[in-house]
Amino acid sequence: MTRTPLMAGNWKMNLDHLEAVATVQKLAWTLDDAKHSYGDVEVVVCPPFTDLRSVQTLVEADKLGVKYAAQDVSKHTHGAYTGEISAKMLAKLGCAYTVVGHSERREYHGESDALVNEKVRALCAEGITAIVCVGEPLEIRKAGEHVAYTLKQVRDCLADLDDNHLAQVVIAYEPVWAIGTGEVATADDAQEVIGAIRGLVVEMYSAEIADSMRILYGGSVKSSNVAELMAKPDVDGALVGGASLDPVEFAKICRFREHVI
Ligand code: 13P
Repeated sequence: MTRTPLMAGNWKMNLDHLEAVATVQKLAWTLDDAKHSYGDVEVVVCPPFTDLRSVQTLVEADKLGVKYAAQDVSKHTHGAYTGEISAKMLAKLGCAYTVVGHSERREYHGESDALVNEKVRALCAEGITAIVCVGEPLEIRKAGEHVAYTLKQVRDCLADLDDNHLAQVVIAYEPVWAIGTGEVATADDAQEVIGAIRGLVVEMYSAEIADSMRILYGGSVKSSNVAELMAKPDVDGALVGGASLDPVEFAKICRFREHVI
């Protein structure tokens, strides 16, 4: 089974809509300029909500190959939920993906696995692929319980989904201690947990679903370390934070195949 690599840039709360347009334009030019098709690598940017309409307009007008995603979604479909954004609204904007359960949402907004599960369902109902984030904090890693901790998150976030919904799920393993710290997990660390996640999906659903599901690594990914991570058999892409704000650096990450390890 060959899984199409996925490189997603999570901008977090950075870049306004004008900066977003300039960044996506430069990213697309840089990828095209190198005369390398990025057709065999899916390239996704995840800007703030306020940028999405501008990015959609640019991508559609210039027929760019870059896709775009939201960073969160409401579990509700519509109604009196001040400040929330529904999956239907994101679908209308042409979002192919949406990040859910990022550790920053879990930490600063108290999001639980049960809520993430509801958000995954809301996205599946609108045909949007959820990028479900999981990963352990430092104390859990130090205690050697990182695999069990992360698998429990996966189990609870993906509980009782239909097979056709699972086809729309991507998992991102982001150890919390590696996010924004410059401390990247080793490729072996990433493979250990990501391999275990794939094993769990076999157990929970089927070998076929596990085989086709893309599982990403996130946490201090840069052009200098991406190739080593991508060389691991179960690592199918990266969820990139800080380094995705620089379109030239992010384009280099997307072209990981050209790097020498
Ligand atoms: P950094 O790449 O900045 O460590 O962020 C990772 C992340 O949280 C992506 O969602």
